[in-house]
Amino acid sequence: MKTVQIDKKKQDREIVSRVERCARKAACDTDRQGALLALLHEVQNEFGYIPRAAMDVVSEKLSLPTAHIYGMATFYNYFSLKPKAKYKVYVCKGTACYVSGGARIIERLKTELGVAEGDLTSDGLFSMHITRCLGCCGLSPVMQVNDEVYVRMVPERVPGILAKYRTLG
Ligand code: FES
Repeated sequence: MKTVQIDKKKQDREIVSRVERCARKAACDTDRQGALLALLHEVQNEFGYIPRAAMDVVSEKLSLPTAHIYGMATFYNYFSLKPKAKYKVYVCKGTACYVSGGARIIERLKTELGVAEGDLTSDGLFSMHITRCLGCCGLSPVMQVNDEVYVRMVPERVPGILAKYRTLG
C-alpha cells in the first residue's frame, strides 16, 4: 500500500513539473483566459491529452476553478480528456463489409488487442473503432490503421498487421 502512495506522489510531482514546463512555453503572463487556452494547448501537446491531475495544476497556477478548466477542455474538439492511441484501427461495418466477413475481422481484433470498441490497449499503442463505409466497398471487408487501408481482409491477416505496427513502436 505504501509503495502505491509513493508512486502516486512521484507521479503527481512529475505532472506538476511537466505542467510547469508547459506554462513556461505558453507564456502565461497574458490575461488568464488567453493564458488558459495557450496552456491547455501545451498540456495537450505534452501528454497527448489533458489528464485530470494536470487540470488541477492548471487551476492552481491560473487561480481558476477546475470546473472552468474542464469546461474549456470539453468545449474545443482539439482537446481530449482521454489518452489517444498511436495507431487507430478502424474496421468497416458497412453493409458490403458486413456481408463479406467484417464481423469476423472485428472479433479477431478484439481477441488480439484484448479491448472493446473505442478502448485503448494498455500499452497505448492501439485503439479499435468500428466505422461505416470507408469508401472501397468493392474491396470489402476493409480495415484501416491510421491512414493505411487494408482490403479484402481475412481474420488470419490481423496478427501480422498488428505485429508490423508493434515493431514500429
Ligand atoms: S461498406 Fe465497407 S467500405 Fe463500404
